[in-house]
Amino acid sequence: MAVLRIGRMLMAALLVAMLPGLCNGELERFEHPIKSDSSLSFLVVGDWGRKGGYNQSAVAVQMGNVGEKLDVDFIISTGDNFYDNGLLGLDDPAFYESFSRIYNADSLQKQWYRGTFSEL
Ligand SMILES: *[C@@H]1O[C@H](CO)[C@@H](O)[C@H](O)[C@H]1NC(C)=O
Repeated sequence: MAVLRIGRMLMAALLVAMLPGLCNGELERFEHPIKSDSSLSFLVVGDWGRKGGYNQSAVAVQMGNVGEKLDVDFIISTGDNFYDNGLLGLDDPAFYESFSRIYNADSLQKQWYRGTFSEL
């Protein structure tokens, strides 16, 4: 898990830095409103485990603590989220078991952005 607190102007550069293997292609971009003090705080998590195991729950608790302290604006998940075959549909219980039930801290009830680059 990485914790970053940056100004808006650094955002695009950061995303490029996170994706060195994808620089030949078009990077997906998103815009997110900044705080009134012009800051932007977010958490990044990848390869998060499953059903609370592989330390997923422990990391989620710390994400909640840090998220509250920094008043994070959003969370980026770098992928590798639902083992072994991804989600099998809208009602797949894996979504609850490995996401909703785990990242349930108030501070994490923000916009989550998902990428698919955790193998980098
Ligand atoms: C959980 O974290 C502890 C402490 O870092 C580590 O020793 C252990 O191997 C981890 N367990 C799993 C299943 O990843």
